[in-house]
Amino acid sequence: MYSSFLSVAVSVAVFAVVCCVSPLVDAEVMFSSLPENLIVDASPIQGQVLKAGEDNITVSWMLKTNLAPGVDAKYQSIKIKLCYGPSSQVDRGWRKTRDNLKKDKTCQFNVGESLIYNSNAAQMEQRVTYTISREVPTAMFFVRAYVLDSNGKKIAYGQSTNAEKNTNLFEVEGITGRNTSLNIAATCFSAFSLMSMTGFYIADRRRKNK
Ligand SMILES: *[C@@H]1O[C@H](CO)[C@@H](O)[C@H](O)[C@H]1NC(C)=O
Repeated sequence: MYSSFLSVAVSVAVFAVVCCVSPLVDAEVMFSSLPENLIVDASPIQGQVLKAGEDNITVSWMLKTNLAPGVDAKYQSIKIKLCYGPSSQVDRGWRKTRDNLKKDKTCQFNVGESLIYNSNAAQMEQRVTYTISREVPTAMFFVRAYVLDSNGKKIAYGQSTNAEKNTNLFEVEGITGRNTSLNIAATCFSAFSLMSMTGFYIADRRRKNK
């Protein structure tokens, strides 16, 4: 009885450590601890407006040239993300930048799938072209590439903007943003209808009152 209780307790403890604690330890990656070892470029020019679900973005990356040989020994894959520019984060807690990458909400949209890191071509510019997803809302963005190791842990990065995130930002016009002009047209049309009806009503009353 006691031994079976003990074995259950041990199993629960092992389960807790394996399933809950170890991922938490893994998850504690601070953005400030990552070296900016990639050069990343995005095709949109500063201030360009791209339409979600239609326009394409080409992202290129390469390893910086002045790094120690073998710095990329553990580099396994590259994950490219669309990230909110600071002006689109103001008063929006759900887009907030946090140093702890598990809690960071800056980069919520993937640019394509994860890509294999090719160490033989690290110094050659690699490219991917991607149509901006329909889910991307109207906002200012930049592109960030994370380097992952074989455990999927982020170990380096590069981004298309500077550290202050105020250069090379581009704008995406979301699907709902585009519907707004349609909504404005509908509202104007309704207002016009209401005015005409009121006009007809008044004219009709005057005619009857004569
Ligand atoms: C984006 O790329 C797709 C697929 O290559 C292409 O069909 C589409 O015309 C491109 N869109 C624009 C706006 O260039």
